[in-house]
Amino acid sequence: MPKKLLIDTDPGVDDAMAILFALNSPELDLVGLTTIYGNVYVEQATENALRILEFAGRRDVPVAQGAAKPLLTPLEGVAHFVHGSDGLGETRQPPPTGEAVDQPAAEFIVETIIANPGEVTLMPVGPLTNIAIAVELDPRIVDNVAQVVIMGGAATVNGNVNPAAEANIWGDPHAADIVFGAGWPLTMVGLDVTMQIVMDATYLDALKEAGGRTAAYIHDITRFYLDFHRRIHGLGGLHTHDPSAVAYAIDPTLFATIRGGMRVLTEGIAAGMTLMDRRGEWYGEHAWTGRPPVDVCVEVDAERLLALYLERIVAAP
Ligand code: RIB
Ligand code: CA
Repeated sequence: MPKKLLIDTDPGVDDAMAILFALNSPELDLVGLTTIYGNVYVEQATENALRILEFAGRRDVPVAQGAAKPLLTPLEGVAHFVHGSDGLGETRQPPPTGEAVDQPAAEFIVETIIANPGEVTLMPVGPLTNIAIAVELDPRIVDNVAQVVIMGGAATVNGNVNPAAEANIWGDPHAADIVFGAGWPLTMVGLDVTMQIVMDATYLDALKEAGGRTAAYIHDITRFYLDFHRRIHGLGGLHTHDPSAVAYAIDPTLFATIRGGMRVLTEGIAAGMTLMDRRGEWYGEHAWTGRPPVDVCVEVDAERLLALYLERIVAAP
């Protein structure tokens, strides 16, 4: 039986790459997309989610629009400089024909998990606002979700917004601290591993060459994103962020993990930092005492992951 997958997303070039990966993997059954600000404003995220599903011929998958800003702080802006002003690498795709369902994302998340106890993999790949609202709306989801797989955070390496913070956690640190502390089976697929997996120009060209229209679509939307990586990181390829969370849901043996309590710093120069208790034994109490342990990916078989992604996209219609 494929795993029921619910992705909370801010598409976003790598979000689109992740969604198409999931849609073309028989281990997964995409039951919905919920949207969030982050790479783009939430209205654009919703349009892009609909566009991607329409491109894939999957208008049957519902989209629910989520929060337009973080829980407690104003929205600082979006990442047009990374993903293009349209979020899809300036590919300027026509407007979607479909619409989002008439239900806020957090309610949709709660309803989906409660209707399928123990079956839904919840996969946030943007700021965690919708997920924190959902937990507060109905804490029963904590015991009824199959697993939560988060793309975000940096436990053993620097962030990508600044030395402390990764973008999705930085986007809403208060929400992230709620989500990491909720007590559900949670795996963090953060920069520790996603920056080790690089899709270079040769890989993306080979993908296009070998595949059909899905591969060509991915090649198109990655031009702008590739240029960002070249300018900012001096890298001849792109970091494989959101598709890595999907890879974890398909085959967790691609990764090695460590386990411990996680806090998210919400204020100060390191706001948005994911700070893990990697020792576990202390002589006194502190802010990590009693935090439920989470799994954090720290190693990845990048070669095998890249081969899996290529296989699925090349075989896609
Ligand atoms: O830091 C990488 C994350 O930030 C990815 O989810 C990307 O899409 C952006 O949202
Ligand atoms: Ca994302």
